This record gives sequence, C-alpha cells and structure tokens, in this order.
Amino acid sequence: MDYTLEFENIKTKASEEISKANDLSSLINIKNKYLSKKGEVSLMMNHIKEVSDKKAFGEIYNKTRKEIESLINEKIKVEEEKKLNEELKKERIDITLPGNNYVRGIANPFYQTINEIEDIFRGMGYSVEHGPEVDYDKYVFELLNIPHDHPARDMQDTLYINDNLLLRSHTSSVQAHVMEKAKGKPIKIICPGKTYRRDDDDMTHSHQFAQVEGLVIDKNINLGNLKATLELFAKKMFSKDTKVRFRSSYFPFTEPSVEVDISCFNCKGKGCPICKNTGWIEILGAGMVHPNVLKMSGYDPEVYSGFAFGIGIERVTMLKYGINDIRKFYQNDLRFIKEFKKVKED
Ligand code: DAH
Repeated sequence: MDYTLEFENIKTKASEEISKANDLSSLINIKNKYLSKKGEVSLMMNHIKEVSDKKAFGEIYNKTRKEIESLINEKIKVEEEKKLNEELKKERIDITLPGNNYVRGIANPFYQTINEIEDIFRGMGYSVEHGPEVDYDKYVFELLNIPHDHPARDMQDTLYINDNLLLRSHTSSVQAHVMEKAKGKPIKIICPGKTYRRDDDDMTHSHQFAQVEGLVIDKNINLGNLKATLELFAKKMFSKDTKVRFRSSYFPFTEPSVEVDISCFNCKGKGCPICKNTGWIEILGAGMVHPNVLKMSGYDPEVYSGFAFGIGIERVTMLKYGINDIRKFYQNDLRFIKEFKKVKED
C-alpha cells in the first residue's frame, strides 16, 4: 500500500470538507472524523506494522495530523470571529439615541427658603439647632419671660395638649432649650422649624407655619450687631442694596424689642403694591435678650448680653417670590412646586 498517497488523499478530502464547512459544529465534526481516536488519520496507524520504514511512516503520519489540525483550527478561528462579530452587531448600543428623561423632584419653595436661610447663617458662623414641636409650657413661655396669666400669652393663640404640654407657638422655645444646655457658655444658633397656632386658615393665615429663630449670646453683644447681622441676611436673601430699618416694638423676651423692615426690593423704596406704597416691608421681630431670660437660664446679665430674632419662613418666601396664598405651600400641587425649579438652579 502506498501510504504516502493514502495520507495525501485523506488530507485532500479533509481540506475540501474544511473549506466547505461554514459553522463551528461541522468543523468539530470534521475534527472528530479525522483526528479522534477512531478518526481516519488515527486509524492509519494500524498500518505501521505493515511498513518497513516506520520512521518515515511516523513522520508523514504526524505531518498529516498537524496539517489537518492547523487547517481546522484556523477555520475555527475564522468562524469564531464571524460569530463574535455577529453577536456584537446584535448587541450594539446606539449611544447616539436620546436617553430617558428622568423627572427630577423639586424641593417645595418653602424648604428652598429654609435651606437658603441656613446657608446664609452658617456662612456667618451659626450652627443649626432643632427642638421639640410638642413642648412644655416652661420652654415655650415661662423661660421666655411669659409667666402664667401674663397678658402677653394672648399674643399667641396656643394649641394645648394639657395644662402643661402644648404645640409650640413659636421657635423661640428652642432658645430656652439651647440656653439650658449651654450652661452659661456663649451661643450662636438658628433654629428652623414648624410652629402651630389656633387660627382659621385663609390666604395669609395658617394653623401650622414655620419660623427660624436666631440667638446670639456672648459678652459685648449689642443692638448694632443685631442690625448688621440682619442687614447682611437681607442683602443675601433679597438684593444687594437692601436696607434695614428698626421700629420699636414689644416682645416679652427681648428688651428693647424691634420690628424689622427691609427696603422694598421690588420698587427700591419708591412705593409699590408689595410694600403698600411705603417703600418698606416688615419681615421679622427681634431684640436684645431680656435680662430676665438670661437670668432664668443661668447667664449673668451684667456679663452676658445677646440678641434674638424670629423670621416667618412662609412670609419671607411669599415676599421673595410673589406668592399670594400661604396655603399653596401645604397643598403640594406639583404645578405650583414646579414653578420653583429655576429658583434652585440659579
Ligand atoms: N417669637 C416671636 C413670634 O413668634 C418672633 C420673635 C420676635 C422671636 C422677637 C424673637 C424675637 O427671638 O426676638 O412672633
């Protein structure tokens, strides 16, 4: 038998089959058909006993195996690449497609104002404190120089839970808590939070609203410091050229007490509906902490002095954005809230 010819035939047959094959599984079948233990090439080994030049037979056997193997492997590589390219084409992500437009939430303008006020005062070295909304009479009134039966209690229509416990009618109560904890040390805080009063809700009144209380206690604090602080606040909150005016007033926990007006940011003092043609807008109450308040919380009024102020959050927000109905803050009507998207981004 001319084994050289036989090997040659096998190789020609195999390479024809390989070149015709156009998928991976048929290539594997070809590999089995020729190179597995019972494959056509392997079976040729049975003839070795019949040949005299076993070395030459062995060489040609190995050469044929290798050649067929490398033909198959090359074709497998080509087929694999083809398959991969097809898959990549199928899975291709078109990065030029417009993305999904996620709707981002917008903070209620009321909270935007709280954040803005906090930022302004943090910038002046204040820290932010919180206190309980349901509080004892002691903190809401007594420690603030409003004893039982004091006529000043009529200034606030309070919602009582029992004789001693109530929904705080102002955030000034947090002052009393902070002073108690500070044990005679200097204080520089603001306290934002909800407050409650017995009120019929209408465009300008709400049984629940919010305030930011401010309190500074240290040596040598005076009315000038209060004015400078509020002026800086007003300039940042409203406009750079805002002026501040004090009018004398009365609060039981401050002496002297003032009502604070800012120059109208809308008409710059000329007179318009927002300032009711006066050129000024009332924005908050303030004053120097009353000596009795200092004393009750363990501060010596001869050594320490302080100022306090209380800002109505809804009022400031309504003024700043021209909102005419306080109830809009609580209804969570998205059409209203969405109007304030730009406010945050500016
Ligand atoms: N607590 C007052 C109110 O609810 C606001 C206020 C006025 C707070 C004067 C103060 C202040 O700290 O000094 O109407």
